[in-house]
Formats: sequence, C-alpha cells, structure tokens
Amino acid sequence: MIYGERVRLRHVERDDLPRFVIWLNDPEVIRGLCLYLPLSKDEEESWYEQALKRPAEERPLCIDARQEDGWELIGNSDFFNIDWRSRNAEIGIFIGDKKFWDQGYGTEVVRLLLQHGFATLNLHRIFLRVFSDNPRAIKAYENIGFMHEGRMRQAEYHENVYHDVLIMSMLRQEWEELMEEKNGSTQNTP
Ligand SMILES: CC(C)(COP(=O)(O)OP(=O)(O)OC[C@H]1O[C@@H](n2cnc3c(N)ncnc32)[C@H](O)[C@@H]1OP(=O)(O)O)[C@@H](O)C(=O)NCCC(=O)NCCS
Repeated sequence: MIYGERVRLRHVERDDLPRFVIWLNDPEVIRGLCLYLPLSKDEEESWYEQALKRPAEERPLCIDARQEDGWELIGNSDFFNIDWRSRNAEIGIFIGDKKFWDQGYGTEVVRLLLQHGFATLNLHRIFLRVFSDNPRAIKAYENIGFMHEGRMRQAEYHENVYHDVLIMSMLRQEWEELMEEKNGSTQNTP
C-alpha cells in the first residue's frame, strides 16, 4: 500500500471491477479520458487480466479514500509507458465517484504518484496528457507544480469538436525543490 493523508493506493482486486464498470460508463467521468464507447463487465474483466500481466510498476492502483468507518474505493491511477533507460513515465488518474471531486483528492493522489515515482521508482521525469477542455484536471496539475510542456493541436475529438491535448510534466529536480520548500516552510512554522 502507498499511504497519503486521506488516500491510499493499492492493487486492484477482481471485486473492484463492478464499480469501475459503472464509473467508466458515466459520460462525465470518461469525458476527460480516452474512452468513448460503452464498456461491458466482460471487457473490464479482460482489462483486469491484461493488467495482471503488466510489469509490476505499471499495474493499476486503486484509490481508496479514508472514511470514518474504513476505506472507500473512489477511483484508479497508474504509471504506464515507463522508459527505464530515460527514466521517464506517464501517469493517469480518474476519480470515478463524482461526490469526491473538487475536494483535493486528485491533487493528493497525483502528489503520491510523484513521491512514489521519484523516491521509490527512481524516475527522472513524470508526465501526463490532459485534454484542453478539462479545466479541473489542468488546475489540479498546475497547483501541484506541473509545467506546461507542449500542446498537440486538435489531437482529440469528442462532442463534435477537436480539442488540443496538453502535455504537462515534472522533473525530479523540480519535485525535490518543491519538497525542500515544503519542509522548509513546515520547519519555520512556530
Ligand atoms: C481530474 C480529477 C483527477 C481531479 O481530481 P479532483 O479531486 O476533482 O481535483 P482537486 O480537487 O484535487 O483539484 C481540482 C482543482 O480544479 C479546480 N476546478 C474545478 N473545476 C474547475 C473549472 N471548471 N475551472 C477551473 N478550475 C476548476 C478546483 O477548484 C481545484 O482547484 P483549487 O484546489 O485551487 O480550488 C478528477 O476530477 C477526475 O478524475 N475527473 C474525471 C476523469 C479525468 O478527467 N481524469 C484526468 C485525466 S487527465
């Protein structure tokens, strides 16, 4: 398990799949993802079987939120396209349970992924792709400190419109500077 303050990241279990099927058929959730067709339980099962065969570092991670009576599954995140020579990797995230949106959970999860990616996997650069019409996600990544790195013009088509795809990234050194700033400000707090 990878623990944060309000969330933890853990392996996906077969029992989690029915919740994913519900969320990944929700048009509001998949609007920001590369999914656009109805998803069946069988397809999700098949995704799970394939996921188990991925390298350990790239296996998807369930996002659980801490509740008064235990942990509640709220979404999923992962590392993928890890290039071990250049130590680059891409991350993805969705919070499927919309009542958890806009409460800082996504921000906390992405910070945990960065911590895991840099401090445990020893990556050098972590990047993500986000559609230009996903202001919630873009704001969260900007708040964390991701740099805008590039724009693939009109690279995504949905809802009858072509949208740009933004590339945002963080380098290990930038992450370390952010951590130093954070630790410094904590130490200076009376
Ligand atoms: C994108 C996602 C991961 C963000 O997680 P989250 O927990 O909702 O986001 P957070 O609460 O951590 O941060 C959202 C920020 O966007 C802001 N925001 C929300 N709607 C906004 C809008 N329309 N315009 C600008 N900012 C907006 C929030 O106020 C918050 O910023 P703040 O902390 O400065 O107030 C989550 O909403 C999600 O999974 N969405 C569906 C799937 C998806 O789009 N995944 C991302 C693919 S790149």
